[in-house]
Amino acid sequence: MASNQPKKLLAFAGSLRKDSLNRKLIAYVAKEAEAAGAEVTVLDLNDFPLPIFNEDIETEGMPAKVRELQSILARHDGLLISTPEYNGAVPALVKNTLDWLTRKQANGDSGIELIKGKVVGIVSASPGALGGLRSLLLLRDQLAKLSMWVAPAQFALGQADQAFDEQGALKDGNQVKQIKAVVQQVIDF
Ligand SMILES: Cc1cc2nc3c(=O)[nH]c(=O)nc-3n(C[C@H](O)[C@H](O)[C@H](O)COP(=O)(O)O)c2cc1C
Repeated sequence: MASNQPKKLLAFAGSLRKDSLNRKLIAYVAKEAEAAGAEVTVLDLNDFPLPIFNEDIETEGMPAKVRELQSILARHDGLLISTPEYNGAVPALVKNTLDWLTRKQANGDSGIELIKGKVVGIVSASPGALGGLRSLLLLRDQLAKLSMWVAPAQFALGQADQAFDEQGALKDGNQVKQIKAVVQQVIDF
């Protein structure tokens, strides 16, 4: 049944870099989602420094930041992710964050229970011509394997180092349309 409640979306970029193009892109996507009626929380993954996943660490005690991230995710209906492409693939930061999220929650349920069924919109940014498209395809596949509903529309921003104006908006109206399409599919889901 359709709900009149605004969709609550959790947005993050898969880069820790201060001047990250993906941080710029996710900030822009978040603004578009808010303009379309969603409530968006933009996370900075610098605030969630997680070790490289190691089962020994969770045996010793789940890092508090994993618990915090899981409880934030639990309060949202879906995700917006902007990912860089590293060597033709999804950066370790994105994979590592997802791997930790899938682990056992404080209530004993698998983290996969928390993730599955949520909707996700994916975008990427790169100074290269393809805009990180290969990373997007791999991310889509991985999120679908976690039983997320990945919006069919996606957007890879090529030449991203030249794409934004001083206010952080995309200069090209056609690119704006493509972002709106991703956002709308996530909201309509
Ligand atoms: C280890 C590494 C591998 C990279 N591999 C790719 C690549 O395969 N394709 C691509 O388009 N850009 C690649 N790049 C360039 C990134 O797209 C660029 O650094 C981008 O700005 C990173 O995203 P960010 O600005 O959000 O940090 C790579 C960068 C690094 C550091």
